[in-house]
Amino acid sequence: MEKVFETITSRRSMRAYEETEVSEETLSEIIRIARSAPSAGNLQSYYILSVRKKKLLKKLWKHAKEQDQVKNCSVLLVFCADLKQSAKKYRSRGRDLYCIQDATIVCSYAQLACQFFGLGSCWVGAFNEVQVANDLDLHTKYRPIALLPIGFPHPDEKKRMSKKIKKRRNLEEVYKKL
Ligand SMILES: Cc1cc2nc3c(=O)[nH]c(=O)nc-3n(C[C@H](O)[C@H](O)[C@H](O)COP(=O)(O)O)c2cc1C
Repeated sequence: MEKVFETITSRRSMRAYEETEVSEETLSEIIRIARSAPSAGNLQSYYILSVRKKKLLKKLWKHAKEQDQVKNCSVLLVFCADLKQSAKKYRSRGRDLYCIQDATIVCSYAQLACQFFGLGSCWVGAFNEVQVANDLDLHTKYRPIALLPIGFPHPDEKKRMSKKIKKRRNLEEVYKKL
């Protein structure tokens, strides 16, 4: 159990990576673990794409405010909401909320799985949705929610992030006992 807490609390966003590739086996394990995430009605209204091709990564980097972690990662996961899957059962609440939450939760689990495997990741939310959806041929079926670049963290980045205090708002600001 302590290992679980350690994995959760020690995770930091890593934005620079070594050149070493993340294997397909490790990536499959990450996805396998992430899929244990809860989802509305267990519909798992998400869709995950992995991107390694440099040309495509560069396009996505352009659409994500040229944030270098998007281009320099070993692999980029794109977490999408499956709008129709959720809407089938939950109508507008499914389309407007649940599928986004499903995609968000599975992405969080993937980040923790990365941490467990000693990999760095960084949630990237600042991107142009329309351009990303176009380049990935998502049409209107899937809505891209988060980009997750993954790679072995660069030692300098690890050092930098370990020195940076993990600031969090005061407990009273975010939590109230009623
Ligand atoms: C919804 C969301 C959007 C984010 N977008 C970006 C982003 O576009 N670029 C980036 O570098 N980090 C992004 N982050 C990562 C946060 O900056 C980071 O989680 C936060 O500063 C806390 O640091 P930590 O992850 O090291 O604990 C995002 C995180 C979330 C949850």
